[in-house]
Amino acid sequence: MRGLFFTFEGVEGSGKTTQLGRLSATLRQDGKRVAETREPGGTSLGDAIRSILLATRNLEMVAETELFLYLASRAQLCREWIAPALNAETIVVCDRFADATVAYQGYGRGVDLKLIRTINRVATGGLTPDLTILLDLDPREGLRRVKERGQVSLPESSLDRLEAEALEFHDRVRKGYLQLAREEPHRFQIIDATQSEEAIAAEIWARVEPLIGSWTVQEGRR
Ligand SMILES: Nc1ncnc2c1ncn2[C@@H]1O[C@H](COP(=O)(O)OP(=O)(O)OP(=O)(O)O)[C@@H](O)[C@H]1O
Ligand SMILES: [Mg+2]
Repeated sequence: MRGLFFTFEGVEGSGKTTQLGRLSATLRQDGKRVAETREPGGTSLGDAIRSILLATRNLEMVAETELFLYLASRAQLCREWIAPALNAETIVVCDRFADATVAYQGYGRGVDLKLIRTINRVATGGLTPDLTILLDLDPREGLRRVKERGQVSLPESSLDRLEAEALEFHDRVRKGYLQLAREEPHRFQIIDATQSEEAIAAEIWARVEPLIGSWTVQEGRR
Protein backbone atom coordinates (compact mmCIF):
# COMPACT_ATOMS: atom_id res chain seq x y z
CA MET A 1 0.00 0.00 0.00
CA ARG A 2 1.10 3.50 -0.69
CA GLY A 3 1.48 6.50 1.57
CA LEU A 4 -0.68 9.63 1.40
CA PHE A 5 -0.06 12.64 -0.81
CA PHE A 6 -1.19 16.13 0.24
CA THR A 7 -0.60 19.33 -1.73
CA PHE A 8 -0.96 23.03 -0.83
CA GLU A 9 -2.09 25.59 -3.40
CA GLY A 10 -3.09 29.24 -3.50
CA VAL A 11 -1.93 32.65 -4.63
CA GLU A 12 1.28 34.24 -3.35
CA GLY A 13 1.28 34.89 0.36
CA SER A 14 -1.85 32.82 1.02
CA GLY A 15 -0.06 30.83 3.76
CA LYS A 16 0.89 27.60 1.95
CA THR A 17 4.35 27.23 3.47
CA THR A 18 3.09 28.21 6.93
CA GLN A 19 0.29 25.65 6.90
CA LEU A 20 2.39 22.91 5.31
CA GLY A 21 4.85 23.30 8.16
CA ARG A 22 2.11 23.16 10.77
CA LEU A 23 0.50 20.07 9.26
CA SER A 24 3.84 18.25 9.00
CA ALA A 25 4.58 19.05 12.65
CA THR A 26 1.17 17.78 13.76
CA LEU A 27 1.55 14.57 11.75
CA ARG A 28 5.01 13.97 13.19
CA GLN A 29 3.72 14.53 16.73
CA ASP A 30 1.17 11.88 15.85
CA GLY A 31 4.06 9.52 15.10
CA LYS A 32 3.75 9.55 11.31
CA ARG A 33 6.59 9.54 8.83
CA VAL A 34 6.34 12.76 6.80
CA ALA A 35 8.38 14.02 3.85
CA GLU A 36 8.13 17.67 2.74
CA THR A 37 8.90 18.99 -0.70
CA ARG A 38 8.19 21.92 -2.98
CA GLU A 39 7.87 22.92 -6.61
CA PRO A 40 9.76 23.79 -8.62
CA GLY A 41 12.70 21.90 -7.13
CA GLY A 42 12.87 19.06 -4.65
CA THR A 43 15.60 17.17 -6.57
CA SER A 44 19.04 18.34 -7.66
CA LEU A 45 17.87 18.59 -11.28
CA GLY A 46 14.72 20.34 -10.10
CA ASP A 47 16.74 22.83 -8.05
CA ALA A 48 18.84 23.62 -11.13
CA ILE A 49 15.61 24.23 -13.07
CA ARG A 50 14.34 26.37 -10.21
CA SER A 51 17.39 28.60 -10.44
CA ILE A 52 16.83 29.02 -14.20
CA LEU A 53 13.25 30.08 -13.50
CA LEU A 54 14.47 32.53 -10.87
CA ALA A 55 17.40 33.90 -12.84
CA THR A 56 15.50 34.63 -16.01
CA ARG A 57 12.22 35.84 -14.57
CA ASN A 58 10.84 38.95 -16.25
CA LEU A 59 13.33 38.69 -19.10
CA GLU A 60 13.26 36.75 -22.33
CA MET A 61 11.49 33.65 -21.05
CA VAL A 62 8.35 32.98 -23.04
CA ALA A 63 5.29 31.31 -21.52
CA GLU A 64 5.94 27.97 -23.25
CA THR A 65 9.53 27.77 -21.98
CA GLU A 66 8.34 28.52 -18.47
CA LEU A 67 5.68 25.84 -18.84
CA PHE A 68 8.15 23.13 -19.91
CA LEU A 69 10.61 24.02 -17.16
CA TYR A 70 7.95 23.60 -14.50
CA LEU A 71 6.87 20.34 -16.11
CA ALA A 72 10.45 19.05 -16.34
CA SER A 73 11.00 19.76 -12.66
CA ARG A 74 7.72 17.95 -11.85
CA ALA A 75 8.57 14.88 -13.95
CA GLN A 76 11.83 14.46 -12.07
CA LEU A 77 10.30 15.12 -8.64
CA CYS A 78 7.50 12.58 -9.18
CA ARG A 79 9.76 9.75 -10.25
CA GLU A 80 12.88 10.41 -8.24
CA TRP A 81 11.25 11.50 -5.03
CA ILE A 82 7.45 11.43 -4.55
CA ALA A 83 6.65 7.97 -5.95
CA PRO A 84 9.47 6.24 -4.01
CA ALA A 85 8.42 8.04 -0.81
CA LEU A 86 4.79 6.96 -1.29
CA ASN A 87 5.95 3.41 -1.99
CA ALA A 88 7.81 3.54 1.31
CA GLU A 89 4.44 4.38 2.98
CA THR A 90 5.43 7.94 3.81
CA ILE A 91 3.03 10.88 3.99
CA VAL A 92 4.24 13.34 1.34
CA VAL A 93 3.33 17.03 1.63
CA CYS A 94 4.13 19.25 -1.34
CA ASP A 95 4.15 23.06 -1.57
CA ARG A 96 2.42 23.58 -4.96
CA PHE A 97 1.99 20.84 -7.56
CA ALA A 98 0.29 20.20 -10.91
CA ASP A 99 -2.74 22.41 -10.14
CA ALA A 100 -0.40 25.43 -9.96
CA THR A 101 0.47 24.98 -13.64
CA VAL A 102 -3.20 24.94 -14.61
CA ALA A 103 -3.85 28.03 -12.48
CA TYR A 104 -0.77 30.11 -13.40
CA GLN A 105 0.18 29.08 -16.92
CA GLY A 106 -3.37 28.14 -17.94
CA TYR A 107 -5.79 30.56 -16.31
CA GLY A 108 -3.11 33.20 -15.63
CA ARG A 109 -1.12 33.27 -18.87
CA GLY A 110 -3.68 31.79 -21.21
CA VAL A 111 -1.86 28.60 -22.27
CA ASP A 112 -4.39 26.06 -23.57
CA LEU A 113 -5.91 24.24 -20.58
CA LYS A 114 -6.35 20.93 -22.39
CA LEU A 115 -2.71 20.95 -23.43
CA ILE A 116 -1.64 21.63 -19.84
CA ARG A 117 -3.74 18.77 -18.52
CA THR A 118 -2.23 16.42 -21.10
CA ILE A 119 1.39 17.29 -20.41
CA ASN A 120 0.72 17.38 -16.66
CA ARG A 121 -0.33 13.73 -16.98
CA VAL A 122 2.93 12.96 -18.77
CA ALA A 123 4.95 14.81 -16.11
CA THR A 124 3.21 13.24 -13.12
CA GLY A 125 2.79 9.78 -14.65
CA GLY A 126 -0.76 9.99 -13.33
CA LEU A 127 0.28 10.71 -9.73
CA THR A 128 -2.59 12.65 -8.13
CA PRO A 129 -2.84 14.13 -4.63
CA ASP A 130 -5.19 12.46 -2.15
CA LEU A 131 -6.06 15.90 -0.84
CA THR A 132 -5.32 19.42 -2.08
CA ILE A 133 -5.64 22.31 0.35
CA LEU A 134 -6.58 25.49 -1.51
CA LEU A 135 -5.88 28.58 0.58
CA ASP A 136 -8.20 31.11 -0.99
CA LEU A 137 -7.17 34.75 -0.61
CA ASP A 138 -7.49 38.07 -2.44
CA PRO A 139 -4.08 38.49 -4.14
CA ARG A 140 -3.94 42.06 -2.79
CA GLU A 141 -3.85 40.69 0.76
CA GLY A 142 -1.32 38.06 -0.33
CA LEU A 143 0.89 40.79 -1.75
CA ARG A 144 0.60 42.75 1.48
CA ARG A 145 1.67 39.71 3.48
CA VAL A 146 4.58 38.91 1.16
CA LYS A 147 5.79 42.51 1.45
CA GLU A 148 5.51 42.32 5.22
CA ARG A 149 7.39 39.00 5.21
CA GLY A 150 10.11 40.86 3.30
CA GLN A 151 11.39 37.75 1.55
CA VAL A 152 10.34 36.00 -1.61
CA SER A 153 10.32 32.25 -2.02
CA LEU A 154 9.32 31.26 -5.55
CA PRO A 155 9.76 32.51 -9.10
CA GLU A 156 6.15 33.60 -9.16
CA SER A 157 6.70 35.29 -5.82
CA SER A 158 9.28 37.77 -6.99
CA LEU A 159 8.02 41.03 -5.60
CA ASP A 160 9.08 42.82 -8.77
CA ARG A 161 7.17 40.36 -10.85
CA LEU A 162 4.19 40.32 -8.54
CA GLU A 163 3.94 44.07 -8.66
CA ALA A 164 4.75 44.27 -12.34
CA GLU A 165 2.17 41.68 -13.31
CA ALA A 166 -1.22 43.22 -13.54
CA LEU A 167 -3.22 42.30 -10.47
CA GLU A 168 -5.74 40.91 -12.94
CA PHE A 169 -3.24 38.14 -13.63
CA HIS A 170 -3.36 37.08 -10.00
CA ASP A 171 -7.13 37.48 -9.93
CA ARG A 172 -7.30 35.06 -12.87
CA VAL A 173 -5.03 32.63 -11.02
CA ARG A 174 -7.28 32.79 -7.96
CA LYS A 175 -10.40 32.21 -10.07
CA GLY A 176 -8.63 29.36 -11.87
CA TYR A 177 -7.88 27.63 -8.59
CA LEU A 178 -11.50 28.01 -7.49
CA GLN A 179 -12.67 26.56 -10.81
CA LEU A 180 -10.34 23.57 -10.37
CA ALA A 181 -11.71 23.03 -6.88
CA ARG A 182 -15.28 23.08 -8.19
CA GLU A 183 -14.37 20.48 -10.80
CA GLU A 184 -12.89 18.10 -8.22
CA PRO A 185 -14.72 18.80 -4.96
CA HIS A 186 -13.67 15.49 -3.41
CA ARG A 187 -9.98 16.13 -3.84
CA PHE A 188 -9.98 19.83 -2.91
CA GLN A 189 -10.59 21.57 0.36
CA ILE A 190 -11.14 25.31 -0.09
CA ILE A 191 -10.16 27.34 2.95
CA ASP A 192 -10.82 31.00 3.65
CA ALA A 193 -7.22 32.16 4.12
CA THR A 194 -8.21 35.45 5.79
CA GLN A 195 -8.72 33.47 9.00
CA SER A 196 -6.07 33.18 11.71
CA GLU A 197 -3.24 30.68 11.23
CA GLU A 198 -4.68 28.60 14.08
CA ALA A 199 -8.21 28.54 12.65
CA ILE A 200 -6.89 27.48 9.24
CA ALA A 201 -4.71 24.77 10.76
CA ALA A 202 -7.73 23.45 12.67
CA GLU A 203 -9.83 23.29 9.48
CA ILE A 204 -7.06 21.44 7.68
CA TRP A 205 -6.64 18.98 10.54
CA ALA A 206 -10.39 18.32 10.66
CA ARG A 207 -10.15 17.19 7.04
CA VAL A 208 -6.83 15.34 7.30
CA GLU A 209 -7.45 13.41 10.52
CA PRO A 210 -10.15 11.08 9.14
CA LEU A 211 -8.03 10.38 6.05
CA ILE A 212 -5.13 9.42 8.28
CA GLY A 213 -7.47 7.33 10.42
CA SER A 214 -8.78 5.18 7.56
CA TRP A 215 -5.30 4.93 6.03
CA THR A 216 -3.88 3.73 9.36
CA VAL A 217 -6.61 1.08 9.66
CA GLN A 218 -6.03 -0.10 6.08
CA GLU A 219 -2.35 -0.33 6.68
CA GLY A 220 -2.84 -2.22 9.92
CA ARG A 221 -0.92 0.41 11.83
CA ARG A 222 -1.57 1.45 15.38
N1 LIG B 1 -3.53 33.22 8.40
C1 LIG B 1 -2.61 34.19 8.29
N2 LIG B 1 -2.93 35.45 8.59
C2 LIG B 1 -2.01 36.44 8.47
N3 LIG B 1 -0.74 36.27 8.07
C3 LIG B 1 -0.37 35.02 7.74
C4 LIG B 1 -1.28 33.91 7.83
N4 LIG B 1 -0.63 32.79 7.43
C5 LIG B 1 0.61 33.17 7.10
N5 LIG B 1 0.78 34.51 7.29
C6 LIG B 1 1.98 35.31 7.04
O1 LIG B 1 1.91 35.72 5.68
C7 LIG B 1 3.17 35.60 5.05
C8 LIG B 1 3.04 34.63 3.88
O2 LIG B 1 2.84 33.32 4.36
P1 LIG B 1 3.51 32.07 3.65
O3 LIG B 1 4.93 32.34 3.37
O4 LIG B 1 3.17 30.86 4.44
O5 LIG B 1 2.67 32.08 2.29
P2 LIG B 1 2.96 31.29 0.93
O6 LIG B 1 1.62 30.99 0.37
O7 LIG B 1 3.88 30.15 1.19
O8 LIG B 1 3.69 32.40 0.07
P3 LIG B 1 4.53 32.20 -1.32
O9 LIG B 1 3.49 32.04 -2.38
O10 LIG B 1 5.28 33.47 -1.45
O11 LIG B 1 5.40 31.00 -1.14
C9 LIG B 1 4.15 35.14 6.12
O12 LIG B 1 4.81 36.27 6.64
C10 LIG B 1 3.25 34.50 7.16
O13 LIG B 1 3.80 34.58 8.45
MG1 LIG C 1 5.67 29.63 0.27
